Amino acid sequence: MKETTSKKAEILDYVEANKDRFIEELFELLRIPSVSADKKFHGDVKRAAEYVKKQLLEAGVDRAEIHPTKGHPIVYAEKIIDENLPTVLVYGHYDVQPADPYELWDSPPFEPVVKDGKIYARGAADDKGQMYMHVKALETMLQTDTLPCNIKFMIEGEEEVGSENLEIFIKEKKDLLKADLILVSDTSMLSNENPSICVGLRGLSYLEVEVTGPDKDLHSGMYGGAVANPINILSKMIGQLQDDHNRVTIPGFYDKVQELSAEEREVIKKIPFDVERYKKELNIDEIHGEEGFSTLERTGIRPSLDVNGIWGGYTGEGAKTVLPSKAYAKISMRLVPNQDHHEITRLFTEYFQSIAPKSVKVKVTPHHGAIPALTPTDSVAFQAASDAFDSVWGKRPIPIREGGSIPIVALFKSELELDSLLLGFGLDSDVIHSPNENYGIFNYTRGIETISMFYQHYADKMKK
Ligand code: BES
Ligand code: ZN
Repeated sequence: MKETTSKKAEILDYVEANKDRFIEELFELLRIPSVSADKKFHGDVKRAAEYVKKQLLEAGVDRAEIHPTKGHPIVYAEKIIDENLPTVLVYGHYDVQPADPYELWDSPPFEPVVKDGKIYARGAADDKGQMYMHVKALETMLQTDTLPCNIKFMIEGEEEVGSENLEIFIKEKKDLLKADLILVSDTSMLSNENPSICVGLRGLSYLEVEVTGPDKDLHSGMYGGAVANPINILSKMIGQLQDDHNRVTIPGFYDKVQELSAEEREVIKKIPFDVERYKKELNIDEIHGEEGFSTLERTGIRPSLDVNGIWGGYTGEGAKTVLPSKAYAKISMRLVPNQDHHEITRLFTEYFQSIAPKSVKVKVTPHHGAIPALTPTDSVAFQAASDAFDSVWGKRPIPIREGGSIPIVALFKSELELDSLLLGFGLDSDVIHSPNENYGIFNYTRGIETISMFYQHYADKMKK
């Protein structure tokens, strides 16, 4: 067996020698507009699945298949080298968020380009770039003869729309998915100077509200002031969802929130988070959020409520004097451990109905939900990841809870009884879900190296 140091040299050399091709292959995937939320792109979503399968086969898996679902397909692949060795199940997603608004992109979202060492494209970081690191880590380990355990891949096309069909898949395929660990790269790090590992994800309740006033649009002069305007009313109702301390006002909303101890909050306080850089990156003069909590606490350990979109009435060019019949909003609530998204959705619905004046009708339609998840830091996997960071980055990673959601992670635990290691290499500046999403080539290649080294340390520790 090769020593870990010589393995590391071979892995790093291989990644360096093949870097340009690794980037070009990712570009091919980024050129496919696999937007899961939009029917218009459904053919492309399928093409992306096929490309992922092809690349897995080229990287060296001995089995790869596409599993159709009621929605978008799931790509499953495996490389089993020895039944007696540990098995890691890699999870990722090849679907992306819509690229709208297109006009705010400096280059077209599905025509990837490299600028200042970063790859710009929708999905560059979330999650095509991060998912593809695992395909290239497999290739790297096979080509340098350093693959120390079995790997399975489960790459889905519906993460950005709630992973409902993946939930069915994992419940049906428990045997196929047998493993010792789930490995995911779909989160971010504090910074390249302070690498971190995500140990917490928030849950989600996402819904749409519709407020109806009169049953038809009206002349805003003839009726204005005498009939409820649903946009005015909706704005007022949304305003009532948070109080002056920026706390959510829905009765019962905080009842089950797991409060952290003073010691646990002390640990968060010590995390080297640069709030000035944060403000500068976002071009804001002041941060905003629930009183009494820091920024990292607001996104990591506290729930939140946001309007994601609001519309109604006339939004075209010029002016049209109209009192609209309807107004709409899409609202998300990010949840933390012990909050249940079904219950939160119900509490929201009851409260929202209760604050509506009789002059309007309110309809609330739930979309998807996600259960919050925490991952352990005292596990073999976390220690192995820590060693891998130490050897590639020269620094041990800081455990940190993040604000986003990956719906399937909690189900990996409850359905497959498996912990996840959230080994993400993104940065806040990647602006995922936003125009000009990007992913640093440095993070892409370092990610491939760190993942490959993770396997070395993980397999070593699992032997003992
Ligand atoms: N990669 C993100 C989740 C994420 C981002 C976690 C940053 C931690 C840090 C993921 O692809 C995502 O955006 N998920 C959706 C899930 C939702 C649609 C159910 C989210 O969080 O909005
Ligand atoms: Zn993602």
